[in-house]
Amino acid sequence: MQKIVIAIDGYSGCGKSSTAKAVAKNLGYTYIDSGAMYRAATLYFLQQRVDLSDIDTINKALKHLEISFHTNTRTGLQETYLNGENVEQKIRSMEVSDFVSEVSKIKEVRRELVYQQQQLGRSKGVVMDGRDIGTVVFPDAELKVFMTADLEIRAKRRQKELIDNGQEVTLEEIIRNLDERDKVDSTRAESPLVRAEDAVDVDTSYLDFDDQVKKIMELANERIGQY
Ligand code: DC
Repeated sequence: MQKIVIAIDGYSGCGKSSTAKAVAKNLGYTYIDSGAMYRAATLYFLQQRVDLSDIDTINKALKHLEISFHTNTRTGLQETYLNGENVEQKIRSMEVSDFVSEVSKIKEVRRELVYQQQQLGRSKGVVMDGRDIGTVVFPDAELKVFMTADLEIRAKRRQKELIDNGQEVTLEEIIRNLDERDKVDSTRAESPLVRAEDAVDVDTSYLDFDDQVKKIMELANERIGQY
């Protein structure tokens, strides 16, 4: 059967990655978390104390940035590696979350990561989530989904995730971070977060996880049947 590309875009914390991961698993596709790539770049820039106003240093740093994904054989979960080091936990910290939108605004960073994402998806059979997947990375994706959810509901879900990972963060802090990132992501000059014209809207505010997966699986199977 023909493999397709599934692009899932939307605001921070709507459940894009957990839903995309489950859909990929059901279809036997590869899941690619493009946000993890921006987070890994951000962690690297923080570690190297890269001055974000210095384009030469940014270009040099990008040459040394090697991001890959590997499945943890014990948990079966996909983890992000930066230059050979497992950074899955570090890239989810509030320090990275507070800085990532600034890094993702930079044209040179986007150009490099979009190229890497296109390479990862060139054989199709991928589910990729992010902000510009259906508009810039794969404008010809066979299925585009635009996910939204109420801000407070998103913040509560994110807080639970962080607590499960051993990080104590207040709800106010998360609301501030999500709101700020949504604003920066939607208003930046370089590939802002916008809904692709041909995307299907999925509001997850009152959908539980299984329903979100079911909804996207229905759309995916319909599209796969058409190709
Ligand atoms: O999906 P996430 O919340 O982990 O993404 C982290 C940040 O990365 C997000 O605030 C904006 C940026 N991002 C982006 O600009 N483009 C993408 N395709 C994915 C993420």
